[in-house]
Amino acid sequence: MDQVNASVITEFVLLGLAQSLGMQFFLLLVFSLFYMGIILGNLFIVFTVIFDPHLHSPMYIFLANLSLIDLGLSSTTVPRMISDLFTDYKVISFQDCMIQMFFIHVTGGVEMVLLIAMAYDRYTAICKPLHYLTIMNSKTCTLLVIAAWVTGVIHAVSQFVFVINLPFCGPNNVGSFYCDLPRVIKLACMDTYRLEFVVTANSGFISMGTFFFLIISYIFILVTVQQHSSNDLSKAFFTLSAHITVVVMFFVPCMFLYVWPFPTRSLDNFFAIVDFVVTPVLNPVIYTLRNKDMKLAMRRLSRRVSSSRERT
Ligand SMILES: *[C@@H]1O[C@H](CO)[C@@H](O)[C@H](O)[C@H]1NC(C)=O
Repeated sequence: MDQVNASVITEFVLLGLAQSLGMQFFLLLVFSLFYMGIILGNLFIVFTVIFDPHLHSPMYIFLANLSLIDLGLSSTTVPRMISDLFTDYKVISFQDCMIQMFFIHVTGGVEMVLLIAMAYDRYTAICKPLHYLTIMNSKTCTLLVIAAWVTGVIHAVSQFVFVINLPFCGPNNVGSFYCDLPRVIKLACMDTYRLEFVVTANSGFISMGTFFFLIISYIFILVTVQQHSSNDLSKAFFTLSAHITVVVMFFVPCMFLYVWPFPTRSLDNFFAIVDFVVTPVLNPVIYTLRNKDMKLAMRRLSRRVSSSRERT
């Protein structure tokens, strides 16, 4: 006879988002449209920034990196969410569950540091304009992007070493439509109180601290802008409000998912959907529809495309 191991769970059961067929079709439509918007919009930003020399400034290089990460972050969950809508028994293998969690935390960690880098870039441009070019040179940019990736990987690995060897012996119902640490840990067959604290600290307190740090930084920058009213005030406010919106939309769900001590399923689902579906589509919307530089770049791009078409 086979020896029955403590960790016998080979798959986890995910929660459905909708019971009725009408609701399933509605979500299918909404999620598909958003995901298409996420792919097209973010790839559009990446290619525009890469191919337009006018946009080779730190702000847009960070923005392109952020777009790539947004695309990655929503790809960890949204395709599965869509394909799971119509299956009755939604299971995810142990391995896929771990992979999903890992990539959520790598991309989330990278995104967090990129948002800090973008704030630092605006701080330097507005509060230290004379030194901007020497401080934010291409070397600094590259270093910040590398730092973002290193941080993301360290963040994910540092939680994973605790989780990967946990004994799982059932129940295996994750209670959510995707795998993430706080809920999967609760399923382990041992006292997970300390582990839950590690996760809350590593994901929750860090995102909370970063959030307040960024908000205070942006308030500081806004005050500086106001004092030097000779600058192009409305343009600066416009740019900063876009950044602040993205920061709020990214961090508020994170804080709720990892720190809020009284989680309810519907609130959890709502905030997870905001982070994976709504926030990633926000960058393209904010930056392409409302930003003057991006609009000019789009016009240049379409002119180049049409002129190359005439030549052929
Ligand atoms: C991301 O940042 C790096 C380093 O600054 C840059 O070389 C790269 O082109 C950026 N990625 C994109 C997609 O723009």
